Amino acid sequence: APFTSQMEEADLLRGSVCRSKGGSSGFKVAILGAAGGIGQPLSLLMKMNPLVSVLHLYDVVNTPGVTADVSHMNTGAVVRGFLGQQQLESALSGMDLVIIPAGVPRKPGMTRDDLFNINAGIVRTLCEGISKSCPHAIVNLISNPVNSTVPIAAEVFKKMGMYEPKRLLGVTTLDVVRANTFVAEVLGLDPREVNVPVVGGHAGVTILPLLSQVKPPCSFTTEEISYLTERIQNGGTEVVEAKAGAGSATLSMAFAAAKFADACLRGLRGDADVVECSFVASEVTELPFFASKVRLGRMGIEEIFSLGPLSEFERSGLEKAKKELAQSIDKGIRFIRK
Ligand code: NAI
Repeated sequence: APFTSQMEEADLLRGSVCRSKGGSSGFKVAILGAAGGIGQPLSLLMKMNPLVSVLHLYDVVNTPGVTADVSHMNTGAVVRGFLGQQQLESALSGMDLVIIPAGVPRKPGMTRDDLFNINAGIVRTLCEGISKSCPHAIVNLISNPVNSTVPIAAEVFKKMGMYEPKRLLGVTTLDVVRANTFVAEVLGLDPREVNVPVVGGHAGVTILPLLSQVKPPCSFTTEEISYLTERIQNGGTEVVEAKAGAGSATLSMAFAAAKFADACLRGLRGDADVVECSFVASEVTELPFFASKVRLGRMGIEEIFSLGPLSEFERSGLEKAKKELAQSIDKGIRFIRK
């Protein structure tokens, strides 16, 4: 059973009363790695999401404190905390959406691939738990290197006989969030009005912003294109270096993860035209996984959009991206099949 303080018990009671009044609306969401740098602000943002009726916070450390704290917010979601692997099953049971920001972040000088060994093992354990306790949940995978952890998750689910490719999504929203911000800065626009598709993967040259498809339609000089592409690809490193050993992006990441999770929930609810970029099992290229625009619905991914017309610069970027991506995907698959 999850730990509950007396106050939380009262909150739970009040929550169930509210829910019985409101009918069965709302979704059950679990955050795995909820006490971390991303996990904490993400817990806060999901507690504020009106589509969430139950929020389960799971980590191997510090969840009692985070749960007590977040549970005092007078928003609709009932919050429960779960600590340590013996509580993973109860944390996951009955969940509609599972968000995974568990794992170690980068330090200066590290690439996302340097995190591979530790995070691969964590993702494997958590996905085994999902297969057992909520095999039909939508999974939002944040743990890096996403280019390898998504293939790892797919292999674990296959092994367990529970693979639903339409429900496994690698979170690349931070690349889109950064692209929108940096492009808006160059164009002198409101960043909320800019939409830049970012395809490929989620590391270095695999991050491919399609500046030829920016909405609203606009044009860039050659210098702007190379400045923007490079800044978007290295946005993560910009933060890692500024934090100087204290980790990687957590606040902007929590914002991006909350935005993506909200899109998944709106899809589950049946909203029309919910489209986000995500790293998913795909036939858009010859690679088994690729990030592109996807339409989200009641089943998870309902449509994967092709890349559309690319500029010369983007076509050559795509070749570079695919080369690195192929290796990262293969590394993930081999980690489980070995
Ligand atoms: P953090 O170290 O602050 O937090 C990670 C949390 O995971 C900790 O609370 C830790 O106790 C927990 N954890 C470790 N092992 C666990 C397990 N077996 N089960 C459940 N929880 C476990 O790290 P931070 O900054 O929150 O980053 C988390 C991950 O997200 C890293 O892998 C990082 O590279 C990745 N990330 C991904 C981004 C993306 O765009 N997809 C952007 C930024 C970071």
